Amino acid sequence: MIHNRITLAHLSDLHLSGRNDRRALSLLAKMLRHFNAAGIDHLVISGDLSDVASPAGWAPVRDVLREHGFWHFDRATVLPGNHDLINLEEEMRIYNALNPFPENRRQALREKVAAFCGMFGELMAGGSGAVAGFPFVKVLHFSGISLAFVGVNSVWPWHRSDNPLGARGFVDPSQLRALLSPDVAAALKESVVVGLCHHALKVYGTSSPIDQAFDWTMEMINHAGYLAVMKKLGADVLLHGHFHRFQSYVIDGVPVINGGSFRYAPDRYSEMVLAPDGTFSQRFLSIS
Ligand SMILES: [Fe+2]
Ligand SMILES: [Fe+2]
Repeated sequence: MIHNRITLAHLSDLHLSGRNDRRALSLLAKMLRHFNAAGIDHLVISGDLSDVASPAGWAPVRDVLREHGFWHFDRATVLPGNHDLINLEEEMRIYNALNPFPENRRQALREKVAAFCGMFGELMAGGSGAVAGFPFVKVLHFSGISLAFVGVNSVWPWHRSDNPLGARGFVDPSQLRALLSPDVAAALKESVVVGLCHHALKVYGTSSPIDQAFDWTMEMINHAGYLAVMKKLGADVLLHGHFHRFQSYVIDGVPVINGGSFRYAPDRYSEMVLAPDGTFSQRFLSIS
């Protein structure tokens, strides 16, 4: 079959609380059945899969994806969110009792990222033996259209004063440098380019001091640097979550879609239909 259009479904912020979260798991299964019935080509989940920052929290998501045919490089792409990697209670306990040194918190985050990649590597690097890590570039060739995902990890380590909720985002400059390598530009040539991160590029933007205080805890600190790199790579669209609202906006000429939160609206998702030239139509849909 010739594909000259690719249909992408985008979910975010599932916030499953583990295997006993039966209601959310069954709603997720229902959504995946809908995607199969609707002929969705590929699913993106842009982080905060779970509220339990551990493999025990992520595994039910892996299992439900597998049961519904989405456990394959070609079928789905996932990213971690702050709730997948940072357990606030643990951070506070360590801060109060043990060793709060920032380097230890950075190391703890690196280990969590490695564990996440160990579980979800199939959906990031594929089963080819390539090591899953960040940034990653995956290029999918459908007949008539080539689709490239560029994924970064935007979760920043917890810090008592700089990141007290663990919710501020930052894309490590080493990831941005890696994306500027000529190999990446060569790999993306001829593809529709979809950038993926967890954190929002824009949060609120109101003048209310309360909202601004909230913005500070949620923002992606170096969103301008991230955006500049994605523009250099010719990104056709950027997808994210984190800020639990379904939104579509344009920032510096680049379309951005916020996949909202499945946790709070489990019948809603973003659907994108992409053409080979990178143009697309997007809408938020509700299933009954
Ligand atoms: Fe979230
Ligand atoms: Fe988040």
